[in-house]
Amino acid sequence: MSDLTLQQQEAQDAIDSYLQSQEQKELVRFITCGSVDDGKSTLIGRLLYDSKTIFEDQMDTLESDSKKVGTQGGAIDFALLVDGLAAEREQGITIDVAYRFFASEKRKFIVADTPGHEQYTRNMATGASTADIAIILIDARKGVLSQTRRHSLIASMLGIRHVIVAVNKMDLIDFDQNGFNAIEADYRKFAERLDFKTIQCIPLSALDGDNMITASERTSWYDGPSIMQALDDTDITEDRTADSFRMPVQWVNRPNLDFRGFAGTIVSGAVTPGTDVIAIPSGMRSTVDRIVVHGGDLNVASTDQAVTITLKDEIDISRGDVICAADDPVDSSDQFGVHMVWMDRNALLPGRQYYAKTQNKTVSATVTDIKHKIDINTGEHQAGKTLELNEIGVCNISFDQRIAFAPYKDNRGLGSFILIDRHTNNTVGVGLLDFSLRRASNIVWQDLKVDKSARARQKHQKPAVLWFTGLSGSGKSTVANLVEQKLHDLGRHTAILDGDNVRHGLNRDLGFTDADRVENIRRVAEASKLMVEAGLLTLVSFISPFRDERELARQLVADDEFIEIFINTPLEVCEQRDPKGLYKKARAGEIKNFTGIDSAYEAPENPELEVDTGSLSAEDAATQIVAYLDQLGYLNAD
Ligand code: ADX
Repeated sequence: MSDLTLQQQEAQDAIDSYLQSQEQKELVRFITCGSVDDGKSTLIGRLLYDSKTIFEDQMDTLESDSKKVGTQGGAIDFALLVDGLAAEREQGITIDVAYRFFASEKRKFIVADTPGHEQYTRNMATGASTADIAIILIDARKGVLSQTRRHSLIASMLGIRHVIVAVNKMDLIDFDQNGFNAIEADYRKFAERLDFKTIQCIPLSALDGDNMITASERTSWYDGPSIMQALDDTDITEDRTADSFRMPVQWVNRPNLDFRGFAGTIVSGAVTPGTDVIAIPSGMRSTVDRIVVHGGDLNVASTDQAVTITLKDEIDISRGDVICAADDPVDSSDQFGVHMVWMDRNALLPGRQYYAKTQNKTVSATVTDIKHKIDINTGEHQAGKTLELNEIGVCNISFDQRIAFAPYKDNRGLGSFILIDRHTNNTVGVGLLDFSLRRASNIVWQDLKVDKSARARQKHQKPAVLWFTGLSGSGKSTVANLVEQKLHDLGRHTAILDGDNVRHGLNRDLGFTDADRVENIRRVAEASKLMVEAGLLTLVSFISPFRDERELARQLVADDEFIEIFINTPLEVCEQRDPKGLYKKARAGEIKNFTGIDSAYEAPENPELEVDTGSLSAEDAATQIVAYLDQLGYLNAD
């Protein structure tokens, strides 16, 4: 072997052994929480710098950037390392979750840097859901703030069991021991009710490097670990107890008739060929035949590994099912008690349909009840009908399909979901499954002998919902009344549900907040469905201002059983008519949340019928509607 190849060989060996040593290091994930000014970016920047994770060219950029835009008078501004985005640099804030990697002698780390602004709870929850440790930054001059409490509560709720409280900017309080002790006492007292196993408070100056990597002389009174030592030594092994085998199926791999594999990432436990498994929710059983990965077959695979599993039997397993150890399968359910973290500007509205996305499945979901909200500062329970941005609540939720799940406390991956708005596609909330509500499984559909079509046949008509929507004073009830009279005269069987009337009875408990309107329409939609079941032509006259709930009403009946009629009278005209004097009161501020004034009306996009009462009299409108029904065969069906 020539000298050169020998050298190359040695270099390669060195690289290999380095990579191997990294490979064997334990991986620890942590998040950092703090506000813009707490020095979070500086802290992370220092960890990266001191662990030599930044490269020469980054170092050069850092030095020149520090001179240009740094906040440290030309000295290295470590925050710039982290605040990589141009927008952030200009504004001096961090705006998205960023993942960074570095290693110590002992461990390798992934840090999720989550922004501190109130509205970014979403990012924090994203980072926290996989983290082992949270570093919570506190400005030594300010002490424990409400956001410190909020971040801690979310961290605890999301299953983080270890907290490092970084009391930063100690240089600005002259490394005052009493100041530090007071903050520590304050934090520990607050954290008593949270679920942390360890809390390590560290006096710090991230800027000057005190207690970042090694013990600082300026805190001689402190004999605890530095940040780096704490990250290295926090014992997280217990938190990752060897759970039973579970793997959600991401996709079914069937390249040819001879191969049928189930691909996914193992979320807990281990599997070998020969392991007996069961698929949930289908309940099908088999035995693992092969564990296939890119380079070949494995004898064993465990948590976090992405594999394809083949089974000894041809059983039907689809995407979203969870393959589990046969002796300890997960549960399945479609109704749950959950903790919800709300992340959208539009409040959570019970009764509204959202999409819930679990590990691999997307289902329709409705929050059926908000049990209580949790005061983020005091942990107290509060009553509430909605959840606003950043609020946390304990709720009941109902999915339209059973899903395989484990309570969040047992398995973060199988115990969480996100809620998505059906129209904007925004992620609006994060849910943690606490337990399954058993009651749903006790109710089965009664098989009834006389059904909808039998009832309709007897009446010689085709039942349908005529859904009148429009502003208050638009003429909905007037037109609906005339239509009903005409149908009645034709010998048709009808029923009418009118906002003002139903609100005197069935919906007497509801007002005009968004949440109450959603519930108002949900009940009326269900009631109108029952009336269609009874074979009736059902006239429904409600403002029904939200598209989502009109859509819900439409979905409850068959495609041709829902006729949306938009009574399109401009606000000015309704206000001028003001039959009940309500617009006047709303303008005077005597009535709150009045539709069209300080509460939204979302006009239909594709109504079956649209009536412009400016150009058409109520009588003519009613005649047209009846003609439409006649034409489409609603009035004379056999
Ligand atoms: S909805 O928005 O929930 O569909 P609904 O049709 O039941 O409303 O009731 C509307 C009627 O309640 C109006 O015609 C009006 O007479 C009365 N009302 C009282 N307060 C309000 C309000 N704040 N906004 C709209 N309508 C109101």
